[in-house]
Amino acid sequence: MTNKAVDATPAEKGLEGIIAAKTAISYIDGQNGRLFYQGIEINELAEHSTFEETIYLLWHGALPNRQQLAELEAQLKAQRGIPDELVQIMQQLPKTTTTMHVLRTAVSALAGFVEDADNTSPEALVKHAICLTASFPSIIAAWGRIRDGKDVLQPREDLGHAANFLYMLNGEVPNERAARVLDIALILHADHGLNASTFAARVTASTLSDMFSSITSAVGALKGPLHGGANEQVMRMLHDVKSSDRVTAWLDDAMANKKKISGFGHRVYRADDPRALILRRISQEVGEANNNSLWYELSEQIENRMGELKPNLPINVDFYSASTYHVLGIPVDFFTPIFAISRVSGWTAHVIEQMANNRIMRPESLYTGPMDVKYVPIDERG
Ligand SMILES: CC(C)(COP(=O)(O)OP(=O)(O)OC[C@H]1O[C@@H](n2cnc3c(N)ncnc32)[C@H](O)[C@@H]1OP(=O)(O)O)[C@@H](O)C(=O)NCCC(=O)NCCS
Repeated sequence: MTNKAVDATPAEKGLEGIIAAKTAISYIDGQNGRLFYQGIEINELAEHSTFEETIYLLWHGALPNRQQLAELEAQLKAQRGIPDELVQIMQQLPKTTTTMHVLRTAVSALAGFVEDADNTSPEALVKHAICLTASFPSIIAAWGRIRDGKDVLQPREDLGHAANFLYMLNGEVPNERAARVLDIALILHADHGLNASTFAARVTASTLSDMFSSITSAVGALKGPLHGGANEQVMRMLHDVKSSDRVTAWLDDAMANKKKISGFGHRVYRADDPRALILRRISQEVGEANNNSLWYELSEQIENRMGELKPNLPINVDFYSASTYHVLGIPVDFFTPIFAISRVSGWTAHVIEQMANNRIMRPESLYTGPMDVKYVPIDERG
């Protein structure tokens, strides 16, 4: 028997540095901490744009004019209602099911209610992108209501994407500031190069499967604590730390036990993640406006202590989104789903881009197992 075991070099682990697709959707300048959607810097979009406008930008490559924006807003509103049968499917799930599992299940099931779900023509893909992007907030809010034993609410045509989600979740129209904070968070999370969930979506799309399958793959990938799931872990950490006087001991202990601290570190950024800087400011403002600055202050102290312990490990987008969402009254297991409400716009843009110039994604693996092993009949095995 020969053994072909060869150690994979570290560069192959996690596909670091491998270019697996060409994209014109977003670009991360990791050295300088800059992020661009279709060439426009994220800070400008966060300042001036809306999530709906950003969606258009990602899907069509340029900002919309008034008419184009109005059309997209109307299309999204028209698609917000989810089928009653889909709500019934969610109602069958145990109330203990976490929201990301519900979302993944519902997205997959949604395909059954769309006549041409397997159609991968460019027109159908855009139609499906609108359907999915419009449905995500409704699915997630519906689950929040079902889980709490409340009636599922119908969407409101007079509200924007962010405000309507908060309304469908809480049963109250949010104030303008809360809606705008969520709107900005949605802009910030919309796309981010070839991150794990986007890659998952593109791999599935590359088999010419369909939009719904691609997005189901992406939701599953986003859920992990190393990816979108990190914002929920950050909140759990904040709850665990509890008070300022425990920050140092808590972090020192975590470091001594070689724990990874959620909300820190990134494969691409070597400088501060620009989204995190915007969210830091928003978290502070939201805390002050709601007379609840504890979570921002705790986060800031953790960031400062981590700066002493691990000076080269900057915060990422998930760090200050946790305290922001918490003060807005959003339950912890809705943090990653909110990430998904935003990122579905980027995922769908990538599926459209992948299918427009497709080749099946089929990388190689480096075999490290044994060779020429003889088949031993079951009775002769030890
Ligand atoms: C984002 C992340 C998955 C990137 O992973 P990666 O590119 O594979 O980076 P690595 O895990 O190889 O980290 C490089 C080094 O930094 C350390 N490091 C990275 N992130 C860390 C963290 N959050 N806390 C503590 N140490 C960390 C690693 O232990 C490693 O140290 P070593 O070289 O001494 O072994 C990783 O930073 C992480 O797990 N962060 C926490 C989860 C998170 O916030 N994810 C959301 C990303 S937007």
